[in-house]
Amino acid sequence: MKLCMIGTGYVGLVSGVCFSDLGNDVICVDKDLNKIENLKNGIIPIYEPGLEELLIKNYKNNRLRFSTNLKDSISKSDIIFICVGTPTKKNGNNADLSQVYNVAKEISKSIKRFKIIITKSTVPVTTGDEIEKIISKKVSKKLFSVVSNPEFLREGDAIRDFTYPDRVVIGTHNKKSNKILKNLYSPLISKGAKYVNTSRRAAELIKYASNAFLATKITFINELANLCEKINVNIEDISIGMGLDNRIGSRFLRAGPAYGGSCFPKDTKAITATANKFKTNLTVIKSVIKSNENRSSLMLKKVFEILKNKIKNKNICFLGVTFKANTDDMRDSSSLTMIPALIKKGAKINYFDPTGEKLDFKKFNNVTFSNNIKDAIKKSDLIIIHTEWNDFKNINFKKDVKNKKFSIFDMRNIYSADKMKDNKIKYFSIGN
Ligand code: UGA
Repeated sequence: MKLCMIGTGYVGLVSGVCFSDLGNDVICVDKDLNKIENLKNGIIPIYEPGLEELLIKNYKNNRLRFSTNLKDSISKSDIIFICVGTPTKKNGNNADLSQVYNVAKEISKSIKRFKIIITKSTVPVTTGDEIEKIISKKVSKKLFSVVSNPEFLREGDAIRDFTYPDRVVIGTHNKKSNKILKNLYSPLISKGAKYVNTSRRAAELIKYASNAFLATKITFINELANLCEKINVNIEDISIGMGLDNRIGSRFLRAGPAYGGSCFPKDTKAITATANKFKTNLTVIKSVIKSNENRSSLMLKKVFEILKNKIKNKNICFLGVTFKANTDDMRDSSSLTMIPALIKKGAKINYFDPTGEKLDFKKFNNVTFSNNIKDAIKKSDLIIIHTEWNDFKNINFKKDVKNKKFSIFDMRNIYSADKMKDNKIKYFSIGN
């Protein structure tokens, strides 16, 4: 099949590369010339394990191309994926759909034969209807079909999630499109992915409902962790005990700092905005948003307790600052709230992240970056494990921290409390 991915952000690039690896001819289009030139040279703008190798392999095989020419790319393709950003609007919780609608207008100028137009970007319910309206102003409805096909990729695990998805959701009642798309996804269906064909609106909602539910699961376990800390119970035991019930499932029950990233915070807000538009009050999701927003303050309170409220001039080391491991993404990371609050109280922050120094912290005088773990931790009064990188699992703290009175606050529960006790290290974790 000939596919065109519009937008080479996270979703467009990963999906484009993976579709080409399944044997399709893929053109990835972006208006950013510099980005396109870099991609042609195998330079990718994001950190995603395995993506660079797969991109280079398929680019060399000529199955994958990069272009800034939208018109030409659309006219050469059978299926067009809209993969542009849908950020939260500056005022309020609604998703900003201006990029999606601009692309729809561009597409409407270039359709001469039947095309399937897919929203892969996360878009609120009824966006497909709007896209159809925009395109039908210029093109006969017989010549196109607008389908919702949400993605469920996690940053850091995106290639595996693309290759072995639990399900492929196709939102269309157009029989021709359904047949073509089932065929496109057949290599994944034959490996076990369930194929779910629904209405377009249902597919749009499945995406938001899934993210909101996962965010709810995390928030639920985070709040239980707060209770565990008061009653001398280990949250890890609760996660295991609950997760073994197949109706609940063990994944996304890891307590930690506030959830972040480019999806959960944005999508939970957007689904409540959609519901408000249709006069429905999603109280559970609203309270999830609130609880998660409070979580960074709770984490800070714990830091203050560990340091006995003496924050001024304390050396605090953050190991990992991204919103989770295996990504360089800082969007809505809880470190962006915690680090400025600690500096305000007079702390000196030193951090290490396997994906390098972050622009977000360059503006602060009291934040420094170390390019290795040993340097990062050596002068610390407190070491905060903010992200769960494997790189942090075997650190010899006793040997490498020069200040003998240091403490560790493990926000991801990656160490054994018993081992820390044996080593006489002051160790604090979540929900314990
Ligand atoms: C999320 C969804 O998991 C994907 O299915 C979806 O496709 C994607 O959003 C999207 O809409 O594009 P992602 O944001 O990459 O993926 O990352 P997750 O692995 O879901 O983690 C999100 C946040 O939850 C992170 O801050 C992570 O640390 C936190 N988390 C996750 C926990 O605190 N505990 C857990 O058990 C799991």
